[in-house]
Amino acid sequence: MSSKIAAPRGTFDILPEQAAQREIVERTARELFEQAGYARIETPAFEATELFARGVGESTDIVQKEMYSFDDGGGRSLTLRPEGTAPVCRAYVEHGMHKLAAPVKLYYIGPFFRAERPQAGRFREFWQVGAEALGSDDPAVDAELIVLLAKLLAQLGCADARLRLSSLANPQTRASYREQLAAYLHEHDAQLSPTVRSRIDLNPLRAFDADDPGTKAVMAKAPRLIDRLDPADAEHFAEVRSLLELAGVAYELDATLVRGLDYYTRTVFEFASDSLGAQSGVGGGGRYDGLVELIGGPPTPGIGWAAGIERIVLAAGLETPTAQPPDLYIAHDGRRAAAFELALAARRAGLRAQMELAGRSLKGQQKQAERLGARYFAVVEGESVRLRDLRAGTEETIARAALVDRLVAA
Ligand code: HAM
Repeated sequence: MSSKIAAPRGTFDILPEQAAQREIVERTARELFEQAGYARIETPAFEATELFARGVGESTDIVQKEMYSFDDGGGRSLTLRPEGTAPVCRAYVEHGMHKLAAPVKLYYIGPFFRAERPQAGRFREFWQVGAEALGSDDPAVDAELIVLLAKLLAQLGCADARLRLSSLANPQTRASYREQLAAYLHEHDAQLSPTVRSRIDLNPLRAFDADDPGTKAVMAKAPRLIDRLDPADAEHFAEVRSLLELAGVAYELDATLVRGLDYYTRTVFEFASDSLGAQSGVGGGGRYDGLVELIGGPPTPGIGWAAGIERIVLAAGLETPTAQPPDLYIAHDGRRAAAFELALAARRAGLRAQMELAGRSLKGQQKQAERLGARYFAVVEGESVRLRDLRAGTEETIARAALVDRLVAA
């Protein structure tokens, strides 16, 4: 035998049982989105590397070390998409969607790729369900999207998912805050971890994310952006919060909430579940009012979120739904063509029908039909069929040509 080949590290196969669980997540999401006026969009699995470098941000972990990038053979660098927001914005610009009535509300469900160190709940290929609303900065869009994610998680049974909420202000406020924060970090650099120290000027905000006690102590007294919002951002944030309260969505104000992507402005949020362990983020997102312009489109406000399907399944502890049993199992003792025709006719009539495909004895075929939970077991015998109702335990012989009508009427 040749040596075996395993799936690449950090990837997984979706086997039928798992597919059934994921189908519940996808169906619930689709129903919620469509009810709220979101339409499906899907973008390619790979994009120009430049899209993520510019969109997600050069200083982020994603762009610095987690992208699967490759040369397309013609000297152009392509990247397996690590996230969906920059691609949706690219599609929005490319298809002139700014000409559509605002906001343009879109959702997607598909695989994403990040070269992270695999661990429980963290994969190199994972699936996200996500939504983006482009063309409006109305705080009700922020609230609507947060409520949608809260509802999705609640409906699926992620009861312990907690919502953290913050505002990252506008780029000007943030730039001056970054300078203040960087100055504060330089003043205390002796207590900071080497990684944080080395990134003070590149991205001082990431210091809020650090785990080491020294940095944490410094950050506890650091200036907070949320206390420095300008009046327009403060009012926008207050309105988002009051709409969430109106919707009965509980949240925790968290001034230290840092998202791993650079495009955010104003509202940011994340749902975390304790049942997930280290990778507690189930889903998150925020506003990105400068992103469309950054990738070559007209100035366009936008907001969205994405949630990991694997993490939702883990946090919700979804049960595997039982498969639908067949209505009819067609058995035969060599009359393959007649059984095959019957199976096709039964399916045409809308019945769930299976036929013997593994050369079992008639006794073995009945066992198989029982294992599958089939209602009827039909043995093809020339022009007639011996039909057994496996639930009622009755048996009759009828014309083969009459079988399907007889079962449809049953
Ligand atoms: P993100 O926080 O990077 O945001 O990812 C969103 C969700 O994807 C996470 O909360 C997590 O559930 C899942 N996820 C991320 N990385 C992994 C991984 N390696 N393995 C398993 N699951 C993972 C974004 O991607 C933004 N595009 C969200 C957004 C949309 N912001 C605005 N619009």
